[in-house]
Amino acid sequence: MLKSNCLSINEQNHLTIGGVDTTTLAAEYGTPLYVLDEDAIRQNCRLYTHSMEQFYSGNGMILYASKALCTTALCKIIASEGMGLDVVSGGELYTAYKAGFPMEHVYFHGNNKTREELVMALSLGVGRIVVDNRHELLQLENLCAEQGKKASVLFRIKPGIDAHTHDFIMTGQIDSKFGVALENGEALELIREAQTLPHISVIGIHCHIGSQIFDLAPFKKAAEVMMGFIYELKNKLNLSIEELNLGGGFGICYTEADDPIAYDKYMETVSYIVKSEAKKYGVSLPRILMEPGRSIVGSSGITLYTVGTEKRIPNVRNYLSVDGGMADNPRYILYEANYDFLLANRAGDSKTETYTIAGRCCESGDLLGKNVALPPAKSEDILAVLSTGAYNYSMSSNYNRLLRPAMVMVSGGIPRVIIKRETYEDIVRNDIE
Ligand code: LLP
Repeated sequence: MLKSNCLSINEQNHLTIGGVDTTTLAAEYGTPLYVLDEDAIRQNCRLYTHSMEQFYSGNGMILYASKALCTTALCKIIASEGMGLDVVSGGELYTAYKAGFPMEHVYFHGNNKTREELVMALSLGVGRIVVDNRHELLQLENLCAEQGKKASVLFRIKPGIDAHTHDFIMTGQIDSKFGVALENGEALELIREAQTLPHISVIGIHCHIGSQIFDLAPFKKAAEVMMGFIYELKNKLNLSIEELNLGGGFGICYTEADDPIAYDKYMETVSYIVKSEAKKYGVSLPRILMEPGRSIVGSSGITLYTVGTEKRIPNVRNYLSVDGGMADNPRYILYEANYDFLLANRAGDSKTETYTIAGRCCESGDLLGKNVALPPAKSEDILAVLSTGAYNYSMSSNYNRLLRPAMVMVSGGIPRVIIKRETYEDIVRNDIE
């Protein structure tokens, strides 16, 4: 019944995560509460890192896309798994730095990095900067010249692939704010120019075709297109590409309807394509980088809420309100994202009622789900929303001056707080008058 292998139901009919009773967690740490299972996160990391060994002789690196969830504790876990990190802002970079993350394994992305962020990246010594556009390239050249440094860069390429995902998170097609296009020669010209810049070292190319993708075909296509471009660069610019970064986007299970492919299939598939295309074109094998985010942390996390008011509107719907909502999980209001729900304190009971789960923001659209099947619920029940490890905390806000929840990490059956619950003092900390 529960698709995520870190979840189970104990003898008290309570939901457990990583072997820990979630009702105990709710009682001890309060709600709303994000809970993650470290062992499940590490298992996911290892699926990817082992697949890199198995299918590509370890000639590359798995980078965790920290936009999915970025905390110092998580950065330490990722580093200890021998993975690199994809960061997309000064804030993510600073978190990695504070966690003592090896900076040479950090890849700095972003479509509009600020001058301050580039300065910070150079002074911290990040391994690679993934250049998005010409303005950034020239700014980086100038900054490196001023500081007497040379930057190792990859270029963000739009491979022009439609990955059939939600419009908001589709980034590989030509109408995208990310990167430079292949088909009109923009990417080739930019890299030609980069070769003339004394403080830029062109190491590789990067693409990311979308997110929550369940199909291997677009990844295959992306690998083919990018290998074709590697050949073009060799042919036209006499440039040998050392690194091919194929991004992230691997789909996870949110509800029964989702049927994810085993994560190691991604590496198996792209390494086969990269090897055969390299042979076909007579180019040397690049190191492969991939950047899973959601599939590392998504299904390893849940959110616990306390049920409050129920509002039955005859012939319309039953609203069940909880003590969180769009401020801690904006994915319903943004994408109408679907989740699985359980009553943590009666986890195995039959789901005989239908509710619309409402948050507590002053916003009618502040819902966590519509037409959610649950056992009959009452005030003080604990509602668990599953697969909230990715893009929940990282996209949370203080709308209505709500406090961000705490986050607990469970490992080997032991919970520890990795993010403190915000206080009202945190809320006014930056207010000046
Ligand atoms: N690499 C790059 C360059 C990316 O832009 C992303 C995600 C990833 C890797 C990781 O993708 P993942 O493996 O997590 O799918 N907020 C949306 C997702 C936005 C994804 C943005 N980029 C959501 O909540 O579904």
